[in-house]
Order: sequence, then C-alpha cells, then structure tokens
Amino acid sequence: MVKIVKRRVTKSEAELLIREIKKTPNIVGYSLAEWMAAEHIIVAENEEGKMLGVCLNYDFHEHWYKIAALFIFEEFRGQGIGKLLFYQSYKDAMERHKNVYTISANPIVLKMMKDLNFIFFESLLDLPKIVIQYQATFWWHSLIWSLNFYRIKEIMRKSIDISRNEPKTLTTSASNINCWTGLRVYKYFTNFVYGIHIFYDVAESRYEPTDESLENFFGISTNHTPIQQRPTVCNYISDF
Ligand SMILES: CC(C)(COP(=O)(O)OP(=O)(O)OC[C@H]1O[C@@H](n2cnc3c(N)ncnc32)[C@H](O)[C@@H]1OP(=O)(O)O)[C@@H](O)C(=O)NCCC(=O)NCCS
Repeated sequence: MVKIVKRRVTKSEAELLIREIKKTPNIVGYSLAEWMAAEHIIVAENEEGKMLGVCLNYDFHEHWYKIAALFIFEEFRGQGIGKLLFYQSYKDAMERHKNVYTISANPIVLKMMKDLNFIFFESLLDLPKIVIQYQATFWWHSLIWSLNFYRIKEIMRKSIDISRNEPKTLTTSASNINCWTGLRVYKYFTNFVYGIHIFYDVAESRYEPTDESLENFFGISTNHTPIQQRPTVCNYISDF
C-alpha cells in the first residue's frame, strides 16, 4: 500500500534524492540545503516508511506555491504514484489558499496539468493577463532559481555529460549551440510549458474552491464558482 504524507525529508533521504536526480535526465533538482529547508514536501512511502517518490513544493510569494520537483524512484514509476503526489501538492496549495505555478517539459506532467485545468503559457514574456500584476514576482523568482550555485553546477555537469555521450557532428545547428547552454540538461524535452492555477483571486480578494477534476480524484465536494472564463489550453497540449 502507498501512503501519501506531507512531511519534511530526512538528511539521508535528501542525499538519496540528490544522487538519483543527478542520474536522471530532464530534471535539475535542488540542493541539500533546499531539500532540508523545504516545508511543503509531499512524500509517497510504503508501509515500512520507505520513500517511493516525492514532490517538493514551496511558496515563493504570499499568494504563490510552486510545484517544483516531482520525482519517483525508477522502479516505482508508472504505478500512479507521480499523479497522486502531483494532485496532493495541488490540493495542498488549494487548502493553503495559494495559487499554483509549475514548469515542465515532461508529457506525463503536462497531462496532469491539463487534467487539473492549468492555464498554460510559453514563457514569462507571455504571462496570462489574469496574473500580470505578478510579473515582477515571476521574473524575480525565476532569476533567484537560476542563479543558484547548485543548479548552475548541475546544468553544466549534465550538459557536458550529454554532449560527451552524443555523436559529434560538424554542423552549427541550434541543437549544437544548445550544447553550451543549460537547455542540454533536458536531453529529450526542450519544449517547456509554464502552467498556473488560480485559487486566490487578488482583484476580488476571494478564494476560489477547487474544480471538478480534483473533486473527482479525491472525492471532495465543493461549490465551484469559476473566477472567469479560462484561456484556452495551447494547441500543443492537445497531443496528449
Ligand atoms: C514524471 C514522473 C514523475 C511520473 O510519475 P509516475 O509515477 O511514473 O506517473 P504515473 O504512474 O502517476 O502516471 C501518470 C499518468 O501518466 C501516464 N504515464 C505514466 N508513465 C507513462 C509513460 N511512460 N508513457 C506515457 N504515459 C505514461 C499514466 O498512465 C497516467 O495517466 P492517467 O492520468 O491517464 O492515469 C516520473 O516518471 C519521474 O519521476 N520521472 C523522472 C523525473 C522527472 O522527469 N520529473 C518531472 C520533472 S518536471
């Protein structure tokens, strides 16, 4: 049986996660200090308390919660655990009256976002109107995230590993140029999608209850009042 709990991770669990994430393509991860400081981690564990996967989340503003790193140990993937953790994180944000922000290029995660009615956008230059007042918050958060020493080191290390293991070509295509950018850490997925879900309407100072997708998943009953017509999901999401 899989238990889903909200708890901090121990130092040895954090070290194990860092080791495993270092070996996994398409994810950069967080430093030991960040794992140890994080308060809003959702953990999947078996009956003996062995960790099967985690979702690291944190607040980066009084109204914003980031679903930051979803990771399932390889042998436990494809059993519905990732979805349980992502949905539980989303519920955690909802219960704490926070809006949710996440970024992914992983089709499995993008499908979860789509099923939970996230609003999608392609870059911070394309921030949806509904959150335009948070533009500075998003940019500032993004800057802080990317200027972290651990991530700079990891992006460089993974990029070099990937470049070494790839057949050499003589062209100067965009993909070769990207060898020298952090994008190469994401070997297979480079089409990043940003997603938000609004639970707290700042203009109205009003909290919006969850939507039907969460009600169906957790069996929660709420009175759903949409804030406004949501923008259409980008076309490329419809591939899933
Ligand atoms: C991405 C990840 C978290 C997904 O977790 P998971 O436990 O394997 O996924 P789940 O079993 O909960 O599957 C969720 C959904 O994706 C589908 N799915 C799972 N694996 C799939 C695969 N390999 N191909 C296609 N669909 C897949 C499931 O059928 C399920 O669909 P449903 O919503 O219709 O039920 C996990 O693969 C992982 O840790 N990957 C490495 C780290 C990573 O890339 N994290 C994401 C960074 S943004």
